[in-house]
Amino acid sequence: MLHFENISADILQAPVLRGIQASLPQGSLSAVVGRNGAGKTTLLRAIMGFVPLRGGRILLDDSDLAKVPAHGRARLGIGYAPQERVMFPTLTVEENLRLPCQVIGMSRAEVDARLALTLEVAPQLKEMLPRSGAALSGGQGKMAAFGRALMVGTRLILLDEPFQGLAPALAGQYGEALKRLQQRAPELCVVITESNGSLLRDLPDHVLHIERGALLPDQAALTSVAPVTSSSFPLEAYP
Ligand SMILES: Nc1ncnc2c1ncn2[C@@H]1O[C@H](COP(=O)(O)OP(=O)(O)O)[C@@H](O)[C@H]1O
Ligand SMILES: [Mg+2]
Repeated sequence: MLHFENISADILQAPVLRGIQASLPQGSLSAVVGRNGAGKTTLLRAIMGFVPLRGGRILLDDSDLAKVPAHGRARLGIGYAPQERVMFPTLTVEENLRLPCQVIGMSRAEVDARLALTLEVAPQLKEMLPRSGAALSGGQGKMAAFGRALMVGTRLILLDEPFQGLAPALAGQYGEALKRLQQRAPELCVVITESNGSLLRDLPDHVLHIERGALLPDQAALTSVAPVTSSSFPLEAYP
């Protein structure tokens, strides 16, 4: 589904991604875990085309993403929720959710179907729909940003540190939404980043550990699941 072929990238001439090699299968939830500054956001931004590669290739199925400019990548079915959620404050949450779909030319019926799926996966969004994008708490904004990524993300969904700053109850709800997503849309490839891997509990199918822009060697084969060492979620948050 998503293949990183030895990718590297620099920011201000400093190497930030170094020889990333991994394959993330369709129908999987993969976590990229590493400290602040490790390169998690840069990796997602490289997939979106916001950071140029110095070397290597990123393939979505068999297509080289280098051939698709950044503004065309959402049209491939890639949804992205940046670390700093950005809702348009002058639009309602529903307009914020629909807008990217309209921009990439989805039909009204497709957008309606996508919204129905999004509300099924994240029912908390229902009551937020008529509210202004500016009137959301941090946790609500995270859920809305997840919803917006899901609206256009028909193949691949990238969520940058979704649990960061969420109170335990909201983090539990977010985790439940991710589990519902895997059930309702099993064709998707979902990638989430996190600086504290233990927050993810048993959510990811695969964990890639990133350190100073490189994957830790034994993680490249995508075979391991991070041990759960501690948790700040209440146990009942995950039935
Ligand atoms: N706009 C930028 N200008 C300068 N350095 C940057 C910029 N963005 C990222 N970096 C550097 O790239 C490295 C990786 O950053 P980032 O991908 O944001 O890490 P993470 O998301 O894992 O915290 C860090 O060392 C950071 O200082
Ligand atoms: Mg980051």
